[in-house]
Amino acid sequence: MCGIIGYIGSRNAVPILINGLKRLEYRGYDSAGISFLKNNKIGVRRCAGKIKDLELYIKKEKIVSHVGIGHTRWATHGKPTESNAHPHRAGGIVVVHNGIIENYFELKEGMKKKGQVFTSDTDTEVICHLILTYTQKGYDLEKATKEALKHVEGAYAIGVMNEFEPDKILAVKNDSPLVLGLGKGEHFIASDIPAFLKYTRDVIILENGDMATLTTEGISIFNLKKSKTVKQKVEKISWTPTMAEKGGYKHFMLKEIFEQPRAIADTIRGRFSLEKGTVNLKEFSLRESMLKKLNKIFLVACGTSWHAAMVGKYIIEDMVRVPCEVDIASEFRYRQPIVPRGSLMIVITQSGETADTLAAQREAKRLGAKVLSICNVVGSTSAREADGVFYTHSGPEIGVASTKAFTTQLTALYLFSIALAKAKEKLGAKEIKALFHELLLLPEKVEKALQCDDAVKKIARKYHRAQDFLYLGRGINYPIALEGALKLKEISYIHAEGYPAGEMKHGPIALIDHNLPVLALAPDDNVLEKILSNMEEVKSRGGKLIAVAHEGSSKVRSRVSNVLSMPETNYYLTPIIFSIPLHLLAYYIAVLRKCNVDQPRNLAKSVTVE
Ligand code: AGP
Repeated sequence: MCGIIGYIGSRNAVPILINGLKRLEYRGYDSAGISFLKNNKIGVRRCAGKIKDLELYIKKEKIVSHVGIGHTRWATHGKPTESNAHPHRAGGIVVVHNGIIENYFELKEGMKKKGQVFTSDTDTEVICHLILTYTQKGYDLEKATKEALKHVEGAYAIGVMNEFEPDKILAVKNDSPLVLGLGKGEHFIASDIPAFLKYTRDVIILENGDMATLTTEGISIFNLKKSKTVKQKVEKISWTPTMAEKGGYKHFMLKEIFEQPRAIADTIRGRFSLEKGTVNLKEFSLRESMLKKLNKIFLVACGTSWHAAMVGKYIIEDMVRVPCEVDIASEFRYRQPIVPRGSLMIVITQSGETADTLAAQREAKRLGAKVLSICNVVGSTSAREADGVFYTHSGPEIGVASTKAFTTQLTALYLFSIALAKAKEKLGAKEIKALFHELLLLPEKVEKALQCDDAVKKIARKYHRAQDFLYLGRGINYPIALEGALKLKEISYIHAEGYPAGEMKHGPIALIDHNLPVLALAPDDNVLEKILSNMEEVKSRGGKLIAVAHEGSSKVRSRVSNVLSMPETNYYLTPIIFSIPLHLLAYYIAVLRKCNVDQPRNLAKSVTVE
């Protein structure tokens, strides 16, 4: 997610913009820039790289201005370069933007045909040109922006300035966060409160459709959806700046767990058409003709991403009947794999820089496979070297333990599988529409799943002193048992194992005693009866049983006192819902054990060495 800051007042805007962007650095970014008004002329200074590079770049100029906007870019469209950095400009209009414009390609092509010249690969630049078009009709900035945004589909939080109206900044919010800071004779916009908390604690949280006009005299807000002026509540923020970076959450990991509804919504946004029943393959450089001929898929990754790869196998083989081979990357690269020509290798990597995954990706290419990277970092090595990239728009993941990246990887695999099923005519239009409908409901179902928070805290209090933990799952949820165990291991340092429940009799059952908490994943699927009997095995040997089940699952509730109830969804999306309580359980146990949740010992966010 990008960082936005804007200032209008009597102080010099430039240091305020730079300091504000520095407070947003924790969000991760790849380029930065500011725009300012001086002697009624717009200035723009941008660079790829870090804010300190931008500071060096502008230092000599000693710019003094009283109104400006700034931006740190987390690339979603277009590589991290100076030309793609924000603010973007068209004529006297400059814009900073956080979000995704779904229809930017069509808008851009239409405006290019009318002679508009674009200088970047970004979706954002179309907003500048649209607003400029309307100001050239004589509209003021508010009206021009209002008319321009009628053409725009997607999520956006924008800051806008017009060289010919130097006494104001405009801020518009639609599905991406945007807040206002109220000072004395000065006002701020930002994508997140930390950016201006040093200057004011009086904040307005904008709502969807709000278009705020900021001047030194005050702020007025017009809601474009309600077509009327609105008065939003001013809130007093009591957080420390460090707390503010985490959005009031104690750790980045908890913030990222609760960001998942938005992360999943952003990952599916603009990626499929419910009406046409199609996945928009162009963005991933995939063609239906290539998918149609596909007879073998390799899924390769490390750690949590490997768990996503395992779920991908279950989805693809069940939905499409194309054989899939899943490997841990460090194994794939050394096992002399047999990769039939025309195979597809799907690498899954949050960072795009994991050494073993990159090596496996290169080995697959050397053997003649096409490579699709499911990746969260634009311009990362995996993304650059792949034949196609499916970017998970989860935003920067700061916590070492991967959560929102994992569930957006699963979301990407679900969409890919539907595209493959369509190409191979395995699913009809009605079935595809049903799968899309369930996908559209997913963000709110994840929101609902997150309501188990208090119940999970109680279980964490009961079992945080355990020496060992066992996680059991079957079928598509077996990888989720592994994921739950990995999360607990990596942040609480408790020894935990995930196992296919059917394996109990082949060894793990010897572990069961009254000291061992056993968490069983028990969705209402074709193997529920089997997992119920595994749960009986655990209970009869005194194991401490915890279950994750679909709400209203009376069969599970009648057997277990600690049941975490999850909203119903289809077979393929259950792993996403069922991972929510497991991530929360690991988090709360780690907090009770006073572990360093965001930076666990011995671990790095990206393992760039073998
Ligand atoms: C996830 O919680 C772990 N931190 C780790 O297993 C991670 O998933 C693994 O290192 C792979 O990272 P990647 O997705 O960036 O390639």
